[in-house]
Amino acid sequence: VRRAMACVLLLAFALAGCGSGSSRDDERAAARARAEARAHARRIELGRQLFAKNCTICHTLNGRHYTERPFEWEAPNLDQVRLKRRYVEFRVETGGPAMGAYFGPRSSEGKFHAIVEYLMEATGSRVVDDGNQPQDLLDQGRQVFDQNCAACHGIAGKAATGRPTYPGIDFNLVKPSERYVIARMMAGVLPEENPPLMPSFKGRLSAAEMRAVATYVTAVAKEGPEAPEPKPVE
Ligand code: HEC
Ligand code: HEC
Repeated sequence: VRRAMACVLLLAFALAGCGSGSSRDDERAAARARAEARAHARRIELGRQLFAKNCTICHTLNGRHYTERPFEWEAPNLDQVRLKRRYVEFRVETGGPAMGAYFGPRSSEGKFHAIVEYLMEATGSRVVDDGNQPQDLLDQGRQVFDQNCAACHGIAGKAATGRPTYPGIDFNLVKPSERYVIARMMAGVLPEENPPLMPSFKGRLSAAEMRAVATYVTAVAKEGPEAPEPKPVE
């Protein structure tokens, strides 16, 4: 009986040992998760500050309107676009013809990751994505797109079909809101140059055609497979 009791006791100790061991693992995992959440919050805060200092001049974000406009057309409204991570990294690293390169070739890894993480979290809050668009509207939109936009813009896993002086933004990487697509079509890009980087479609497309193409772009953008790597900016 004594031996049996000793066995039971040993078993009880072993089980208790196991139990406390796994709860120690749980605690360690929870502590790691808390530390990671704190580090994430610090990166987001740093990204927010860097954005306010370097980018708010040109870009609207979180409803905060850009503060200056260094050229005649507007820089993308970052509330109105949802972006793929590798595209955000590309832009922050490379800049653009009118944007300039801000942090250079990852000159400061900490700042680079902070701003990318902040943008992944903060951008696109105004992009409404209604997945149930009527098929005939989407078909009409695709036709308008193929005839008027495909030369300069990639979409649905395809690259731009033409050779524009500067390629339009690749809709495999960016999902703009319908409102924003219509605003851009009305305004064009670089309207003072001849020919402009993107012409205004005001008067060239009917309101119905604009609505159809905007619906198509918002529905299809960013959903396709990864497009070819973005072309380097000359
Ligand atoms: C001088 C104005 C200016 C400043 C400052 C600026 N940008 Fe831009 N940004 C632009 C323009 C214009 C574009 C469109 C591409 C181009 O023409 O260069 C753009 C494009 C982008 C895009 C792609 C958006 C899209 O819809 O395709 C991202 C992301 C971006 N900028 C992030 C940033 C960040 C982050 C900063 C600050 C570190 C910044 N920009 C500073 C003008 C600016
Ligand atoms: C001649 C070439 C060209 C044509 C044609 C063209 N675009 Fe563009 N588009 C551009 C360029 C260039 C930009 C700005 C790229 C940049 O700033 O990096 C642009 C920007 C845009 C943007 C802003 C994207 C963003 O993320 O900020 C939208 C939306 C857009 N175009 C929609 C259209 C639609 C819809 C059509 C067809 C009705 C069209 N474009 C036709 C060249 C063109």
